[in-house]
Amino acid sequence: MVSQVRADRISGKILPLPNSSHVPDFFRRIALKGWRKSPYFTFSSSYPVFRRWLVSQLSSRHKSVLSIGCGSGELERDLIRAGREVTGVDICFEMLQAARRRGLKNVALADALHLPFSDSSFDLVIFPEAIGYFELQEVLPGVACVLKKRGDLLITAYPTDFASDKIYKNRSVAELTRGLQGTGFEIANQKLLTVKRSGVREVAAEARCQIIYLLGRKQDSNIFPGNALEFRRDFR
Ligand SMILES: C[S@@+](CC[C@H](N)C(=O)[O-])C[C@H]1O[C@@H](n2cnc3c(N)ncnc32)[C@H](O)[C@@H]1O
Repeated sequence: MVSQVRADRISGKILPLPNSSHVPDFFRRIALKGWRKSPYFTFSSSYPVFRRWLVSQLSSRHKSVLSIGCGSGELERDLIRAGREVTGVDICFEMLQAARRRGLKNVALADALHLPFSDSSFDLVIFPEAIGYFELQEVLPGVACVLKKRGDLLITAYPTDFASDKIYKNRSVAELTRGLQGTGFEIANQKLLTVKRSGVREVAAEARCQIIYLLGRKQDSNIFPGNALEFRRDFR
């Protein structure tokens, strides 16, 4: 069984089943081979130093964490070891199988556009190297719903000059910032990073960075933009 989430986090809504034809074979093949044997990599899966750095960025408020596009679960395993209660969502069954083998027991096979969780379920939602597979205005209103009041959204994203796979949409900090602000988040922190085996460094120029770290905070619902509310109405 790959779809297991805590019962109190399941929304009770009737959700569209993930359509397996939406799952690019691309992810399935990587999951079956493992990142190491594939021509691709993610910083989260391949650099323990980056995972340690990310774990160190979390605050004590971040007790319940939802990872969207959790993939094969390397970062999530480290978050669990650091005492967080982690739930992973992925559209690719084989990725979730690998994540479960790493110890991520709370997993949901779902399209992140239809998150199968009750409103206000999580302190923190993370998109580890996965935001580029989404249109921001399509996915973020649902994220705002499942976040608790003043909950946080952590994104790690490839900048415009970074060579990513063809499906991934690279974005600048300005574009990501606009996307977050337009869907009910304020920017709490941002960093431009390079990752080497020896460590994670902050750099000043976006053109020199390999990965953007962005922390958003859900704004109070009374100042939510209309599109988030529209989403909720359509969804119910
Ligand atoms: C580049 S991988 C990142 C995996 C992991 N977070 C990491 O950093 O190693 C992107 C992940 O997003 C998942 N994904 C893509 N589209 C999705 C969707 N619509 N809903 C849920 N997951 C999705 C893929 O299956 C894949 O596991």
